[in-house]
Amino acid sequence: KQYDVCILGATGAVGEAMLAILEERKFPVRNLYLLASSRSAGTEISFRGEELTVLDVEGFDFSLAQIGLFSAGGSVSEKYAPIAAAAGCVVIDNTAHFRYDRDIPLVVPEVNPHAIAQYTNRGIIANPNCSTIQMLVALKPIKDAVGISRINVATYQAVSGTGKEAIEELANQTRALFSSQDVEVEVYPKRIAFNVLPQIDVFMENGYTKEEMKMVWETQKIMEDDTIMVNPTAVRVPVFYGHSEALHIETKKKITASEARALLEKAPGVVVMDEHVPGGWPTAVDAAGTDATYVGRIREDLSHPMGLDMWVVSDNVRKGAALNSVQIAEILIADYLK
Ligand code: A2P
Repeated sequence: KQYDVCILGATGAVGEAMLAILEERKFPVRNLYLLASSRSAGTEISFRGEELTVLDVEGFDFSLAQIGLFSAGGSVSEKYAPIAAAAGCVVIDNTAHFRYDRDIPLVVPEVNPHAIAQYTNRGIIANPNCSTIQMLVALKPIKDAVGISRINVATYQAVSGTGKEAIEELANQTRALFSSQDVEVEVYPKRIAFNVLPQIDVFMENGYTKEEMKMVWETQKIMEDDTIMVNPTAVRVPVFYGHSEALHIETKKKITASEARALLEKAPGVVVMDEHVPGGWPTAVDAAGTDATYVGRIREDLSHPMGLDMWVVSDNVRKGAALNSVQIAEILIADYLK
């Protein structure tokens, strides 16, 4: 069976990856509708060797598609996801807008694929935050084996998570610094080139940023466990593609590093890269353009009897967004839409 699919935000960093991944994974697409704002309507983008014209989402008839992959920002999803769902187009939404609604499933296919069944509530499935997805892919086998009581995490996040203008800002600032020109700071509050910024998204009342609180709320919802404590610091680094994370967890029962490594070696979506030699660990550059979540530096925390540390890296635009959405769509058509 084939499906008509629309991509809202098709001209963006995540939208482009969605097109590539649908093609790579041979998703059974009949018609593909590329949607964006009036700014880029009329642009041509190629898919499976054919040129498709980008349409203005305003006025698009969503009854033409059975599946919608949305990645054009929270306010755009707020407006169009209910319209699409009402027209019979199941929306897989990449924005944070619906993630915390109780009746909206929030899904990482390797962790809680069963939650997809709740798509019938409102016709919308939410795709989690990029930092949460890769962390939970790596933690799921540990949680199943010994339980997790607490997660301390520091992230090192690529600029592509912000979107195309941020990718350009890092490139432009780097070029300007090398040619002794003035550096323009527009997307981020301070220079990102050759710098590290300890703020992602807005500040909340408790002193954490919204990106950090997303990791707290989403972990509890996806793991279906409100008792897991999560303590994140989310940091933007001058990397184009690929988020890295230093995870320091406390398990409910003791697990050794070699037991954890053995579990991770069998875990779906995970590649263990953990040699105690120079370069025997994953980096954003290794992960960029690939599908796996890479885990290295697995070791027992010498400061805590139940502590385990690891380093987790994944392509934030692929597994963190576009790939995760397409994997949800694959389960949707295999098990539900038929
Ligand atoms: P457009 O090219 O028309 O601006 P990124 O995250 O890389 O910045 O991409 C954002 C994506 O969301 C782009 O495809 C952009 O399309 C789309 N977009 C942004 N605002 C709107 C809007 N109001 N209506 C439809 N699409 C939008």
